[in-house]
Amino acid sequence: MDLGLKDKRVLVAGASRGIGLAVAAGFLREGARVAMLARSAGPLDEVLCRLQEEYGPERVLAFPADCSDAAAWPSILDRIGSAWGGLDVAIANVGDGRGPQEALPDAERFAEAWGSNFSAAEATARATLPLLEASGGCLLFVSSIAGLEYIGAPTDYSVAKTALVALTKQMARRLAPRVRVNCLAPGNVYFPGGSWDAKIQADPQRVEALIQATVPMKRFGTPAEMADAVLFLCSERAAFITGSCLVVDGGQTVGLH
Ligand SMILES: NC(=O)c1ccc[n+]([C@@H]2O[C@H](COP(=O)([O-])OP(=O)(O)OC[C@H]3O[C@@H](n4cnc5c(N)ncnc54)[C@H](OP(=O)(O)O)[C@@H]3O)[C@@H](O)[C@H]2O)c1
Repeated sequence: MDLGLKDKRVLVAGASRGIGLAVAAGFLREGARVAMLARSAGPLDEVLCRLQEEYGPERVLAFPADCSDAAAWPSILDRIGSAWGGLDVAIANVGDGRGPQEALPDAERFAEAWGSNFSAAEATARATLPLLEASGGCLLFVSSIAGLEYIGAPTDYSVAKTALVALTKQMARRLAPRVRVNCLAPGNVYFPGGSWDAKIQADPQRVEALIQATVPMKRFGTPAEMADAVLFLCSERAAFITGSCLVVDGGQTVGLH
């Protein structure tokens, strides 16, 4: 299937590892151009060098910046504008699922989770929307199945991820037909150095038992599998899809809805 992504101009917020890195590499593989954001310059630089070597220096840009920082965006978007003349796709991938196992975490914890999961995505959408409106492009939020059902993830994280699903629907209806807005709800995704890797290091038996008991496909998802779903949703093949939340969880939430 030709996804029609050749030469598309893509921004991925949260791109130096895990799902965001796989999404960035996936778009490059399809012939798109990709601007990557992450806060720590070292790891970002490392992946930039690798991807520029593979796909060409003019096709990959990297910005060490916090996507929640409104002041960081003008220079990033100026640079993308002068390099590529606009933006077709924005991926709001930043999120952090660490948190306490409490029914109602304290207000400080709620604010922190809201900031790193909802506000970071909102800021990415706010900054990139004018360019997406100009190009007739698309926006994708990375939520989580934790935002759809109780799966044992922290309350504060789950609530912020639910809000992203609501934001997807609101924006999709209000921006159609010019801009498409969708979201991805990943299940458990393993990669070395990721959050599940840390949990496996701490207690491999518990994690294995959890996966066997809760995921019908009996395994973790991979960043590449998340990237495939993101690429499809942002492609011309998904031109009639907006306001949707695509669950990619190995069946974990089937029967919970
Ligand atoms: N992994 C899973 O099992 C899973 C399951 C469901 C949903 N998700 C969601 O999928 C998304 C990606 O997950 P992941 O596991 O790949 O995440 P991750 O390993 O924590 O990677 C997050 C990426 O975002 C960057 N980042 C974090 N905060 C940022 C900020 N404020 N501004 C710019 N960049 C920032 C990180 O680099 P720096 O730290 O250097 O900034 C890193 O590149 C998240 O939204 C997560 O909630 C993940």
